[in-house]
Amino acid sequence: MDNMKTLYFDFQATTPVAEEVLRKMRPYFAESFANPHASDHVLGWKSAAAVESAAQQVASLIGADADEIIFTSGATESNNLAILGLAIRAAMAHTPRKRILLSAIEHKCILSVGRVLEEQYGYAVDSIPVDRNGHVISRELERLLGDDVLLVSIMAVNNEIGSIQDVGALSEIIGKTGAVFHCDAAQTPIAVGMEDLAIHTDMISLSGHKMYGPKGIGALYIRRGLQDDIEPLIYGGGQQNGLRSGTLPTPLCVGMGAAAEYIRSPEVSKRRKELQTRKDRFLDMLLALPWGGRLYGNDGQNRHPGNISIGFQGFNAQDVLGALQPRLAASTGSACTSGLPEPSHVLKAIGLTTEEAESVIRFSLGFETSDQEVDESVKLIDNTLKKLYTNSSNGKG
Ligand SMILES: Cc1ncc(COP(=O)(O)O)c(C=O)c1O
Repeated sequence: MDNMKTLYFDFQATTPVAEEVLRKMRPYFAESFANPHASDHVLGWKSAAAVESAAQQVASLIGADADEIIFTSGATESNNLAILGLAIRAAMAHTPRKRILLSAIEHKCILSVGRVLEEQYGYAVDSIPVDRNGHVISRELERLLGDDVLLVSIMAVNNEIGSIQDVGALSEIIGKTGAVFHCDAAQTPIAVGMEDLAIHTDMISLSGHKMYGPKGIGALYIRRGLQDDIEPLIYGGGQQNGLRSGTLPTPLCVGMGAAAEYIRSPEVSKRRKELQTRKDRFLDMLLALPWGGRLYGNDGQNRHPGNISIGFQGFNAQDVLGALQPRLAASTGSACTSGLPEPSHVLKAIGLTTEEAESVIRFSLGFETSDQEVDESVKLIDNTLKKLYTNSSNGKG
């Protein structure tokens, strides 16, 4: 049992660092370790060049320029800097735009920022409804928009149900009103190409550890013309144009850049297609089990190619995942919300009842997932559900 490998189906919680990413990071820990902000010597210049090149790589991933990329500690910080930074500065300038729109299926870190803006800065925050597939309802967005809206935040790809938004179409609607459009794209790199995302948006959040890069690094794209409108959250030595002070972690920046380069490679386009095929096969096998499996979210094209959000009727997801330990790793929703007792706000937003929401397991596959792992998992899940069913029937009997 001890040396049995745990089957990993939690790639949307985090990916491993790709081998080539790790290789590119290595020299910056103990060899080229000089402070990238040390402007008085050649070793500092070398580190600065590595950071600059990483910013360029991240910018190229989304169709931006290097000076529009701010490195952060991850998507949580990027989301905070984008939304709080804009709203605090606007409040200081006594903006007449006092409303903020957040999609109903945003990550908790965005919804929490919304609450702070309501409670501490006097903003009115409205939720943009989504349909059963987790797509923003354009009509509702149009209804909520107005010239008093400062910012709209809509994630490109959802972390729980994998819904992919039509960012171009949403951008056209938002653009007409002069509101700033922020997009949390933490889950996007694995899911779809994103080379024109910066054309459609004003700010984009990214996370290194969701795209085969290291943990502890993220990025925020801020359109050049908007940078003067963002209040920093961290003050200090004025690094990164004063928008986010602190010494940059060169190895992590290099890793994020290398991950962006990897994501842009033709190999990843090919791997996305393979991922979709493997996920579809896994899903078909799960739905064919005699346990009343039901897929939630979109069953068509506009879905993360590695995401399965499935409930087995009458089974509680926490019980199933507990019974699957230590053999299989999956989650009940977003990694950041699992552990909390309340049902997922995303599943509620797409219309699930509390009982349905509590049955939902997210299996997220990655580029490394093999057909053999899929086969083993289906057997394991079938046996586990059988055991749980037998135990509960015995209990009742
Ligand atoms: C859509 C989305 N946004 C933000 C985050 C937070 O990212 P990080 O772990 O880089 O702070 C996550 C992590 O689950 C996510 O899925």
